[in-house]
Amino acid sequence: MSGRHQQVVIMFGPPGAGKGTQSSILADKLGIPHLSTGAMFRHHISNATELGREAKSYLDKGQLVPDDITVGMLAERIKQDDCAAGFILDGFPRTVFQAKTLDNLLNVRNVPATNVHVVALVVPDDVIIQRQSGRRVAHKSGKIYHLEHNPPKIAGVCDVSGEPLVQRDDDKPEVVTARLKVYHAQTEPLLEHYKGSGTVITVDGTQPMDAVTAEIINKLEQ
Ligand code: AP5
Repeated sequence: MSGRHQQVVIMFGPPGAGKGTQSSILADKLGIPHLSTGAMFRHHISNATELGREAKSYLDKGQLVPDDITVGMLAERIKQDDCAAGFILDGFPRTVFQAKTLDNLLNVRNVPATNVHVVALVVPDDVIIQRQSGRRVAHKSGKIYHLEHNPPKIAGVCDVSGEPLVQRDDDKPEVVTARLKVYHAQTEPLLEHYKGSGTVITVDGTQPMDAVTAEIINKLEQ
C-alpha cells in the first residue's frame, strides 16, 4: 500500500472539546472516514460483545480502556478498505504507548510525517462541564447534538435517523470530572510527543462550531 497520498488527521483535546463534531464535518469534506475509539467501544457495549463487556467498566468510571484492547481494535479497523486514502482519528491516541504504536502503524503504511496532522482543540474545563451536560446523541446515526448550541430540528429526535436522542452514560457530572482528570494526567502530555515532529495545529475550540471548522480547514491548507 502506498502511503504517499494518505492523509491522517488526529483530533486531540479534552472530553467535550468538539472532536466528534468536527471529525464528522471533516470526514465529509476530506472524503476519509471518521474513526472514534469511544464510538467503537459504545457499539461493542450495545451489542454485548466480549470486548464490550471488558470495556464497559472503564467507560462507566471515565477511565481509559487498557492499551492492548484499544490498540488491537484500532489496528484492525484501519486495515479496512475505506481507510486506504487515510482517516480521521477521534480519541486515539490517548497514551504514550498508543502514540508510539500509531507511529509504527503509520510507518508500515508508508505515511510520510508531513501527511499526519494533529488538530489540538483548546477548551477550558469550565466550558467542558457546561457542554457535556447539554450533549445529546443518536447512537444509530452517530450524530451529536447540544440542547443549546446545536439542537435538532424537532426536540429529542435525530434529524437524520428519526431515533430518540439520549444522554451518554459517561456524561454524568461525576464521570465528566473523572474523564477530565484522566485527560490532563495521561493524554495532554502527548502533545509534546507530536510537537517534536512539528505537526500540531492549535485551534480555539470555544468559538462557534462553524468558526472552529473554518479555522481547522484554513490551517490544514497552509
Ligand atoms: P470518547 O467517546 O472518545 O469521549 P471523549 O474523548 O471523552 O470525547 P467526547 O466524545 O466526550 O467529546 P468530543 O470532544 O468528541 O466532543 P463533541 O463533539 O461530542 O471516549 C469515551 C470513553 O471511551 C473514554 O472515557 C474511555 O473510557 C474510552 N476510550 C475512548 N478512546 C480510548 C482510547 N484511545 N484509549 C483508552 N480508552 C478510550 O462535543 C461535545 C458537546 O459540545 C456536544 O453536545 C456538541 O454539540 C457541543 N459542541 C461541540 N463543539 C461546540 C462548539 N464549538 N460550541 C458549542 N458547543 C459545541
